[in-house]
Amino acid sequence: MLKKAFVKSYGCQMNAYDAARMADVLGAEGYAATDSPEDADIVVLNTCHIREKAAEKVYSELGRLRVLKGARQAQGLDTRIVVAGCVAQAEGAEIQARQPAVDVVVGPQSYHRLPDLLARSRERRVVDTEFPVEDKFDHLPRRRTPGSAAFLTVQEGCDKFCAFCVVPYTRGAEVSRPVAAVLAEAQALADAGVREITLIGQNVNAYHGAGDDGAPVGLAELVRLVARIPGIARIRYTTSHPNDFDDALIRAHAEIPALMPYLHLPVQSGSDRILGAMNRKHTGDQYRRLIERVRRARPDIALSSDFIVGFPGETDADFADTLRLVREIGFQSAFSFKYSPRPGTPAADRADPVPETVMAARLAELQALLDSQRYAYQRAAEGRVFDVLVEKPGRHPGQVAGKTPHLLAVQFDAAPHHIGSVVSVRIQRAGTNSLFGQLVSEAAAA
Ligand code: 5AD
Ligand code: SF4
Repeated sequence: MLKKAFVKSYGCQMNAYDAARMADVLGAEGYAATDSPEDADIVVLNTCHIREKAAEKVYSELGRLRVLKGARQAQGLDTRIVVAGCVAQAEGAEIQARQPAVDVVVGPQSYHRLPDLLARSRERRVVDTEFPVEDKFDHLPRRRTPGSAAFLTVQEGCDKFCAFCVVPYTRGAEVSRPVAAVLAEAQALADAGVREITLIGQNVNAYHGAGDDGAPVGLAELVRLVARIPGIARIRYTTSHPNDFDDALIRAHAEIPALMPYLHLPVQSGSDRILGAMNRKHTGDQYRRLIERVRRARPDIALSSDFIVGFPGETDADFADTLRLVREIGFQSAFSFKYSPRPGTPAADRADPVPETVMAARLAELQALLDSQRYAYQRAAEGRVFDVLVEKPGRHPGQVAGKTPHLLAVQFDAAPHHIGSVVSVRIQRAGTNSLFGQLVSEAAAA
């Protein structure tokens, strides 16, 4: 009988990439992908540790999986449960102490060893959260059916140590993949029909991979090289830190047509006092000036960001500074979170937490402002014509779905053979989460 694997990913895009690569590893071992855990021989949860809620979700999901595993066992079926990702890295064997049904715990740097770990798990439970000397990327099989838009990890880890963040502990120090390895993967994606590549890294604009002569190459140059690959029409990158944004990358936005006019640049807070306490090493005005320069290079660039409300010690005046920054800059979209103390991070020890009710009120106020900006941005698209990369069938029969250069989702009537093409679409109406449009021409606008 065909063996099946169910892989579920939480959290960021890097996790989504890792989950896809784990599916590739299992695919090479003969496991077909399934989207229901009920008929899976292997269930992988690719977990996120960034906030407490994300980590807790894993344990409730594991509780459900334990019941499922028992039910399948009663029918003589084996189910291996694998916990991967950042909770695996941070908690290791603790996970199996809390949930004995877990067979394998594997960290983000070791998942190329999954087949071996699964084999060993038949004898006893296995934990592998090493940062191995070998590079996992050298041991991963070819990517399967990636679709028309794909992620490509170019850099992992972070050396910034923002006071709230677990990433430097779970993903380790910053490491950039060599240019040749990135280009080979990008070429393979192009060969498989991919038209849009998002270069991803925890701190992607700190990319400094070795070029052919061994000298480090920055992100701007990497984007230039990927843009030369025939078939690659669009390039994006995420996530960036303001302090690693160099002039070359700003110029790249003006000069490389394939580099899409969209920038996710987390600022976290608009208060200099809080930014200092967060160890962000930049001020609100430095962020504003950087955005001005990016906008001069690419006036239509859509901006996105991340915000944390209720960082320890945040006052009403600090929060007002955040609202002011949001009003001044104007974001197409943004993510905002209540501060969540993470074990082992410097901020977790602070004795001046913001009360939960205050955090909740601030989050609601910030989200209302960000929502109004997002909706205004969507409305401003009405009547305009955009290039849309068609990615998949739409929600209704006869429709397809895709994205504008500014990363707005669009649904419109068109035949499925358009999937994988960039076409020209006139936006007729803005919904809350998606635009609705009409195909204008099969060819993209120049
Ligand atoms: N609490 C709340 N939000 C956090 N983030 C990171 N760590 C925390 C934390 N401890 C948010 C930041 C980051 C995004 C990925 O998650 O805004 O940019
Ligand atoms: Fe975390 Fe700061 Fe690094 Fe981003 S830059 S991953 S928030 S430590």
